[in-house]
Amino acid sequence: MNPKFKRTLVTAALPYANGPVHIGHLAGCYLPSDIYVRYLRSIGHDVKFVCGSDEHGVPITIKAKKENTTPQAVVDKYHKIMGDSFKEFGISFDIYSRTSSKTHHQTASNMFKVMYEKGGFTEQVTEQYYDEAAKQFLADRYIVGTCPNCANPNAYGDQCEKCGSTLNATDLINPKSALSGNKPVLKQTKNWFLPLDKLQPQIKEYLEKHQDWKPNVYGQCKSWLDSGDGLQPRAMTRDLDWGIPVPVEGAEGKVLYVWFDAPIGYISATKELLPNNWEDYWKKDDSRVIHFIGKDNIVFHCIIFPATLMVHGGFNLPDNVPANEFLNLEGDKISTSRNWAVWLHEYLLEFKDKQDVLRYTLCANAPESKDNDFTWKDFQTKNNSELVSIFGNFINRTLVLTHKYYEGKVPTASSYTKEDLLVLEELAKAPDKISKAVEQFKFREALSEWISVARLGNKYLAETEPWKLIKTDEERVKTIMNVALQISCNLAILSEPFLPFTSEKLFKMLNLHPLKWLSAKQTSNVPQGHLINKDELLFSKIEDSDVQVQLDKLQKSKMENEQNKPLEPIKTETSFDDFSKMDIRTATILEAELVPKTDKLLKLILDTGVDKRTVVSGIAQYYKPQNIIGQKVCLLANLAPRKIKGIESQGMILMAENQKGELCFVSPIVNDFENGSSVK
Ligand code: MF3
Ligand code: ZN
Repeated sequence: MNPKFKRTLVTAALPYANGPVHIGHLAGCYLPSDIYVRYLRSIGHDVKFVCGSDEHGVPITIKAKKENTTPQAVVDKYHKIMGDSFKEFGISFDIYSRTSSKTHHQTASNMFKVMYEKGGFTEQVTEQYYDEAAKQFLADRYIVGTCPNCANPNAYGDQCEKCGSTLNATDLINPKSALSGNKPVLKQTKNWFLPLDKLQPQIKEYLEKHQDWKPNVYGQCKSWLDSGDGLQPRAMTRDLDWGIPVPVEGAEGKVLYVWFDAPIGYISATKELLPNNWEDYWKKDDSRVIHFIGKDNIVFHCIIFPATLMVHGGFNLPDNVPANEFLNLEGDKISTSRNWAVWLHEYLLEFKDKQDVLRYTLCANAPESKDNDFTWKDFQTKNNSELVSIFGNFINRTLVLTHKYYEGKVPTASSYTKEDLLVLEELAKAPDKISKAVEQFKFREALSEWISVARLGNKYLAETEPWKLIKTDEERVKTIMNVALQISCNLAILSEPFLPFTSEKLFKMLNLHPLKWLSAKQTSNVPQGHLINKDELLFSKIEDSDVQVQLDKLQKSKMENEQNKPLEPIKTETSFDDFSKMDIRTATILEAELVPKTDKLLKLILDTGVDKRTVVSGIAQYYKPQNIIGQKVCLLANLAPRKIKGIESQGMILMAENQKGELCFVSPIVNDFENGSSVK
């Protein structure tokens, strides 16, 4: 770490308060930030960790509409659920605040005012869609219409979810308001814009100073700057009734853009946490701010928020933004609406006390430089063959043998062999290796360095075999067990950022107060003669059946989704007039026989209630003639007659066809319903 910095403020993206937390959130942002912060605390660095719920913006109002309640009720509900999940998984925020807090409203409002008074915004009048019935301007998400690119009739004003293209609301064909269903009208409105175009040189200079950022982050920023016409002014106010009112005259009915106020939430949370010295963390030269986020937030944290701070003045700009890519689940994108996710609160019901197993797997698979996949099979493997077989096994053997041979009293190491010294040397090197990786935000690498220490211990015991030596060389065994206990203790120290629950348990088992990072450079933390506690199992095996339960659950989501998919039209739209031209009647099959020299066609004689007529139908593969005498059917009676295999067919029987191409009669359910009834 750059020694110039004496203080660090770590922020984790404020999640939208419109749904519970899933593993994608954890792996992408909250787990890496927590590991980083726990590590900094352990090395004794002055660090604060802030987060909170993002409670404004259109997604919240849409959720409220869907749940038939108010935005406030939505954010109250999810703020609680999300906060609880983070706590349960050991995400150690110093504060978990929310953007509906009074401090935040004041802070964001004041910042806007300062910028406004400096002339930091440009005013622009634009045309926006307006719903005359609902008497309000429509956010892009509230306008639905046909996508100009793929003809999807349910595209949103900002995006078509079918073909993925980004849209402007005015691009939509046949736009409709999602509020009233009416056609919206274009109406002029004034908003305040952040002139990113004019700020471009400053932003560029700022980014150029940070070429050390993760390549995925720096690359995305660069492509924004270099794209076509460069940066464009962006509206910082919106015509919406949910959010922080715009604190200037002539802005009635407008609120701050959610992406203006949300990052300011980091500042508000710091104020709430440290009312007297919050400025130290934001303004001093020897302080730095680090934002942990997911990749969809990069532009907001690397360009728009820094631009806001530049215009406002007085704040340090973000020093680093270690954004992660996305985590997929069993090969598919995680999706809340499709319920394709592992929800943290559900995980805990099924894997009680196994927070660290999830933390371990998610860290090992963190999507640090590219999207990555979480699978339950891999979760099981990582648990069984790493946490149980390597780490757990080593600790267990060490503690059990200490109790067995020495009644729990740490034996004295009388003389080390070359082998012991090599192991101790390796052990002492571990903290620096892990530090180096963590400080570069390479958490996967850090974790793999950590498990190597457990592997070292496991191998040491397997090779020295104290359980055999005890019969022949008691002195030697004392030294071996002492070394194994030192390794165990250092593992407890080094595991804390990654597996905080396990670390705590292990310190308890060793009967030691938790030690800090620096101690792990020593290899004599457990004093001789010290009495350790009874050992408990740290990890237990995850069975195939446990994995199957999870896979079945996902399979169920998949099936439910398929059933809920809106019907995709397979034919072009038709009019009622065209439909009414068809004369469809109920009828009964009187006779049926295979048409000679064919295997598909049946010749049928039908009673239509009015006449008897002949119809040739291609259903012989599905029905035997003798089985369908008396079958009720529907007949398209006014189809122009045509000759099939020399027989004149006077109409067509309606059949349903399933996805496999099998056919089945469409017929009235009531068996004695009169023939000749008209179907409409
Ligand atoms: N709510 C946003 C999201 O979930 C993240 C906001 S981060 C913020 O994508 F700090 F800027 F608030
Ligand atoms: Zn489309």
